[in-house]
Amino acid sequence: MAAGAAAGAWVLVLSLWGAVGGDRNITARIGKPLVLNCRGAPKKPPQQLEWKLNTGRTEAWKVLSPQGGSWDSVARVLPNGSLLLPAVGVQDEGTFRCRATSRKGKETRSAYQVRVYQTPEKPEIINPASELMAGVPNKVVGERGSRKQSGEEVGTCVSEGGYPAGTLNWHSNGKPLIPDGKGTSVQEETRRHPKTGLFTLQSELTVIPAQGGAPHPTFSCSFRPGLPRRRALHTAPIQLTVWEPVPPEVQVMVQPEDGKVVLGGTLTLTCETPAQSSLQIHWIKDGIPLHIPPTPVLLFHKVKLEDQGTYSCVATHPSHEPQESPAVHVIIEADKPIAGSVEGQGLGTVALALGILGGLGIAALLIGAIMWRRQRHRREERKAPENQEEEEERAELNQSEEPEAAESSATGP
Ligand SMILES: *[C@@H]1O[C@H](CO)[C@@H](O)[C@H](O)[C@H]1NC(C)=O
Ligand SMILES: *[C@@H]1O[C@H](CO)[C@@H](O)[C@H](O)[C@H]1NC(C)=O
Repeated sequence: MAAGAAAGAWVLVLSLWGAVGGDRNITARIGKPLVLNCRGAPKKPPQQLEWKLNTGRTEAWKVLSPQGGSWDSVARVLPNGSLLLPAVGVQDEGTFRCRATSRKGKETRSAYQVRVYQTPEKPEIINPASELMAGVPNKVVGERGSRKQSGEEVGTCVSEGGYPAGTLNWHSNGKPLIPDGKGTSVQEETRRHPKTGLFTLQSELTVIPAQGGAPHPTFSCSFRPGLPRRRALHTAPIQLTVWEPVPPEVQVMVQPEDGKVVLGGTLTLTCETPAQSSLQIHWIKDGIPLHIPPTPVLLFHKVKLEDQGTYSCVATHPSHEPQESPAVHVIIEADKPIAGSVEGQGLGTVALALGILGGLGIAALLIGAIMWRRQRHRREERKAPENQEEEEERAELNQSEEPEAAESSATGP
């Protein structure tokens, strides 16, 4: 009954076998052959050995004997006792064990943890952007309240045919880009090939480049394998151009459009700015700031010669630099110059102004006469009268003649 006792012991050993630790880790490349040695086995038959394996192909443990069988195409025991897998696949990941008894009756066990890998193709950035727009803070964007910040798409990094899945990582100017959910975000997708079980990874990067940042940042992507001690694969870097947002323009609109006004006519200068409530508009004439309260509209009901010149407006905002508009030219045309004026065109047109004022009535004429006298007096005393005094004087005149108009000029349309 020695044989029966031996068989009983064999069953006991088999049942304990599964609990044995200290497996060797084997990493095998998918599609390549793999040989696992059965330690302690005689090099040639007759041998007393048994391979068993628990992999993706098996349900629980599968026992292979040297006699072979239907599993020969997947795994078979070689004459020297080693196990050969002709072409390793994803399904061969698992545990392999061999128990051998030497001719002297000594039992040896071998155990392997087999993992497989496949290096994917070099990752690639598809649909790369060439230009990005630097981030615009919400308060500038917000004409109708704050707008959700959406990033600019840099590109999609693709890694195809790898196993295990691994990860894709983005870099900017050589430094890792960490998604922060605000400016920098990635959208990842992992697909698995139904037959081969290999992975395709996709990672779409969007960023909001900082204003005043690098004008030509580079981006690259790398694949980090899912197994340790394997090298990362890098894409070629892409270089982008970052555009800074063009500052909203400030400009002066003139009515009449060509900036030519007949003496005594109406002139309107409107400072056009991006719609912002907190803007203050100041005016500059011939390079000198006008000392009037901030207003987006300058209204001249009866232009005078002195109103001729270049005008620009300056928009000031608590949180940005003041912005000045390009200058516009205003030309006052005296269409009926009085011939024979002794003191030149200046006095001639003053006389013309007087004539127009005369048409308005005696009261206006009187005022005109007073003004004419004052002006002549001033001209004789100082050849360069100060703009501001004239400005104020005119404002007074406007008020006395047309108070409503003066008001509308201060508040604007
Ligand atoms: C084999 O890999 C596992 C993790 O997968 C590890 O815990 C174990 O220590 C490794 N064994 C050897 C012998 O390196
Ligand atoms: C058994 O044979 C295979 C192929 O001939 C070889 O690769 C392997 O190393 C051999 N095993 C031993 C233990 O010699």
